[in-house]
Amino acid sequence: MVVAQRWYQEAVVYCVDASSFQDSDGDGCGDLPGLISRLDYLSRLGVSCLWLNPIHPSPWRDDGYDVSDYYNVHPRLGSLGDFVELTRQARERGIRVVIDLVVNHTSDQHPWFQDARRCADSPYRDWYVWSAKEPADRRQGIVFPGEQKETWTFDERARAWYFHRFYDFQPDLNWANPDVRREISKVMGFWLQLGVSGFRVDAAPFVLEQVSADVDPGPLDFSILDSWRQETQWQLGDAVLMCEANVDPSSVGQYVASRSDGPADRSHLLFDFVLNPRMWLALARQDSEPMIEALGNPVVLPEGGEWATFLRNHDELDLSRLTDEQRRDVFHAFAPRPQMQLYGRGVRRRLAPMLGGDRRRMELAYALQFSMPGTPVVRYGEEIGMGETLTLPGRDAIRTPMQWDDTRNAGFSDAEPEQLIRPVPRTGRYGASKVNVRAQQRDPDSFLRWFENLCHVLREAPEIGTGHCTVIQTPLPRAVLAHRMDAPAGSILLLHNLGPDSAVVDIGPQKGCTSAPYDLLVDGPYDQPTRQLRGLELHGYGYRWIRLRRADRL
Ligand code: GLC
Repeated sequence: MVVAQRWYQEAVVYCVDASSFQDSDGDGCGDLPGLISRLDYLSRLGVSCLWLNPIHPSPWRDDGYDVSDYYNVHPRLGSLGDFVELTRQARERGIRVVIDLVVNHTSDQHPWFQDARRCADSPYRDWYVWSAKEPADRRQGIVFPGEQKETWTFDERARAWYFHRFYDFQPDLNWANPDVRREISKVMGFWLQLGVSGFRVDAAPFVLEQVSADVDPGPLDFSILDSWRQETQWQLGDAVLMCEANVDPSSVGQYVASRSDGPADRSHLLFDFVLNPRMWLALARQDSEPMIEALGNPVVLPEGGEWATFLRNHDELDLSRLTDEQRRDVFHAFAPRPQMQLYGRGVRRRLAPMLGGDRRRMELAYALQFSMPGTPVVRYGEEIGMGETLTLPGRDAIRTPMQWDDTRNAGFSDAEPEQLIRPVPRTGRYGASKVNVRAQQRDPDSFLRWFENLCHVLREAPEIGTGHCTVIQTPLPRAVLAHRMDAPAGSILLLHNLGPDSAVVDIGPQKGCTSAPYDLLVDGPYDQPTRQLRGLELHGYGYRWIRLRRADRL
C-alpha cells in the first residue's frame, strides 16, 4: 500500500514559548517579532513545524493556559499583525505554525466568566459548569496535588459552585452547551484564516468529559473532536489536530478514529504518553527491556494517525504510568533530590542535567527518540542542552529564557535583569555563560551542530515517520535495542546501546537488504557494515542507524 504523503508524518516539531524565546522591544518578555527574528536559526536547525505555547491575552497565572480572549494576541507578545507576519515568514522557510487550543477552560478573568458569575440569567451562565449545592466530590479529581485543593469552588458573586478541573482560576467551559461549541469553532476558523496549520488540543480528555456535580460522568463526548476534525479539514485540507490525551493505552485509539477498524478521522497526532515514561525507564535502567516491551506490544494507531514523541515538554515529566518500583528507579537515576520532583509523580528538570550533562547520553536519548515511530517534538533549548532552575517554583524551573549568547541576559532581552519574565541562569554548568547558541554555532563539534544533523538525517529517513516498526528478536546484550523501520521509501536498521559498555552485535542478514548497507547516523567512527550485519560494533551509549534499502522511485 502506498502511504499518502502527510506532512505531519515527516515533520520535526519544535515547541516554543514565545514569551521566553526572544524579546524584541526590551520589556523583558519574549514576543512574536523576536520569534520572527529567530526563524532563520530554526530553519537551519531543521525544524518544520512550530508549536506555540499559548499566545493569547491572559492573566498568565498558568503560563498562558488561562485564556481571557481567544481572538487576540497577548499585548506583551505583539499584535495579530505580528502573528500573521510570523506565519507568513515561517511558511517562506517551509515551517508551519500550530498553536495551543486551550478550551477545556478559560481564565476566570475572561469576559464570558465575568458575565456568567454576574447573575443566574446571564447569557453566559450556562457556558460554565455550576452547582447550586456544595458538591460532595469537590475535592476529587485534582490534577495538581499540593497546588490545587478542590475541583469545585464557591463563587461569592454567583452564589454558586463552579467546576474547574485545573486551578480555581480556570473555570471549565460547558461543552454540553451548543453555543460554546459554535463559539470555539469560530475561534478555530479565525486562527486558520490567520495562517495556522492546526492546533495542539490542550487537555483533550477533560474537554470531552461531561461533568455535573455528584453525578458519575457518562462516556466522553467524542462528537466534539469529530466536529473539530470536520470543520478544520473543511477549512484547510492539511490542517492537523495534535491531541494531548494522557490516558490509558487502551483508550488512546478513540482520540484518533471513530471506528477501531477505520482510518484516522479525529486527531492526526497524539502525544505519546505511553512511550515517554518507557524511554526514561530504559535510560534509567540502561536496559532495552522496557522499550522492547513497548515496541513489541505497540498501541497501533489507525491509518493516518501518528504518535508525537517527546522526551521533555513544558510540564513535569509524568511518571504516573510506571509502577512504584519503576518510578523509584527513574527518580533515583534522574531526580534524586525531592526538589527535582513534582506532584509525587513527575520530574521538573530538563534533559541535559538529568543525564549529568553527559554528551554521549544526550545524543543517545535524542537518537532513540528520533528513531521511534512517529513525529518527534522537541522543546526549545533542548538542542543546546539547557538546564533548569530549581529555585523557581513548580514547572517554572524548566521555563527559563532561551540562552542565545553569554551576555547579561543571554541575548534574550535588553531589559534590566530584574524585569525579565523569568531569570536567566547565568552561572553554573548549564548557565548561559557556558551553554548558549552562539558558542555552539562557532564550534563544529557542538551539541547544537549534532542536533541539526539529527534533524536533517531524519528528513532523509522518511521510513521512520511513515514506516512499520519491528523489534529485532536476535539475542542481544540487554542494553542494546535493535529495531527496524520499513516503508515504501526504504528500510532502516536502528541500534541503540543504552549502557556504558561497548558491545559487538550480530544481527544477521535482514530481509529487504538489497544493496550494501551503510551508516546514516552514528555516534563515532565504525567500520562500514556488511550485508551479513555481523560483528557490528557499538560504543558505550553508542547508536547506529543503518540504511538497508532505499527505493529509487516510489
Ligand atoms: C495542559 C498543559 C499544562 C496546563 C494544563 C491546564 O496539561 O500542558 O501546562 O497547565 O493543561 O491548561
